[in-house]
Amino acid sequence: MRIQVNARNRGFEFDAGPGERVLYAGLRAGIDLPYECATGTCGTCKAKLVSGRVTDRWSGAPGKKYVKPQAGEFLMCQCAAEEALTLEVSKFVYAVEPGACVPQTCAGIVRGVRPLTHDVMGFALELERPRDFDAGQFVLLAADGVEGYRAYSMCNYVRGGRTLDFVVKRKPEGGFSQWLFGANREGARLQAFGPLGKATFDPALGKNLLCIAGGSGIAGMMSILARADAADYFSSHQGHVFFGVRTMKDAFFLKELSETKAKVTIALSEEDVPQKGAHASLKFENGLVHEVAKRAMAGKYQNVRAYVAGPPPAVDAAIRVLLLDAKLTTDNIRYDKFS
Ligand SMILES: Cc1cc2nc3c(=O)[nH]c(=O)nc-3n(C[C@H](O)[C@H](O)[C@H](O)COP(=O)(O)OP(=O)(O)OC[C@H]3O[C@@H](n4cnc5c(N)ncnc54)[C@H](O)[C@@H]3O)c2cc1C
Ligand code: FES
Repeated sequence: MRIQVNARNRGFEFDAGPGERVLYAGLRAGIDLPYECATGTCGTCKAKLVSGRVTDRWSGAPGKKYVKPQAGEFLMCQCAAEEALTLEVSKFVYAVEPGACVPQTCAGIVRGVRPLTHDVMGFALELERPRDFDAGQFVLLAADGVEGYRAYSMCNYVRGGRTLDFVVKRKPEGGFSQWLFGANREGARLQAFGPLGKATFDPALGKNLLCIAGGSGIAGMMSILARADAADYFSSHQGHVFFGVRTMKDAFFLKELSETKAKVTIALSEEDVPQKGAHASLKFENGLVHEVAKRAMAGKYQNVRAYVAGPPPAVDAAIRVLLLDAKLTTDNIRYDKFS
């Protein structure tokens, strides 16, 4: 199906397969259509239908509260073309930059499923063919019997590798997380679409790094730290990581975090700071992660790029600190809301 997108700055044309969501078809064709979650919650991928018909593949998507169906608006990440379409997107749209990792569909096998805490599971996806991604990106995963895609950030970083590492926090009655926690999924097959996301890091950035993560939001930060440490980035730039969890029993990756050259603080919101334990290089503070970061970072925001990820309230609180206290520009605040 041919799709014509008229953006604020120019037009693009691309093909979509039967049932393929418009956003994914455009991204696959190397067109950087607007999106944030890519999974129906944020409303960023809103477009207006000028001609043609679409099928809404998730009529209950929370992101629909941002669209006006009576004005022909719909979510590109949830709707598929029924026939040739002409759309309007009220944003500037560009082709992806040469050399960027263009998303594709790829199948993979679940390996190494292991509990990291009482409600966080780690696993790897062994892809059927090698894929490039940038540190800090995510992919969409789909399992048989679970409707729709879910977004998960890679914890590792490797160019041209076949293994993507993930952590998944259990959500009560959540479709994908209950699928993962509910049975032994070793060897199960998943569909993946990606890589996606703009909260990426490359050593050419040349800025000091500030990472603020709530819970499983640490996933993408681990990828960024892996990339930075491999390039010995922290010999010439500062790195500050704040990892917020409720209690020590919710913390994971402490061994890995104690091995980075960045300075790592674990913020415990519901428990006192523990006695010095196994991870002497880690600092522990009491408080919500954005408050702990705000106290520790006061006066240290020169030449900083910040990365924020985790539950939406934690991300919003951290972004407020970065805008109002740190006075960072929006281009230097990259975030993923795990909504
Ligand atoms: C950019 C990004 C990165 C993320 N990274 C991580 C991570 O590294 N680790 C982690 O634990 N979580 C991550 N999340 C959250 C994750 O995507 C899931 O929302 C979470 O795991 C709960 O999924 P669930 O299936 O258990 O819950 P559910 O409540 O079943 O689903 C949650 C989400 O799945 C999608 N969805 C649900 N039903 C449908 C449907 N019928 N059709 C289409 N889509 C549907 C929607 O986006 C919904 O908000 C990330 C989210 C985003 C946006
Ligand atoms: S990108 Fe479509 S709703 Fe978030």
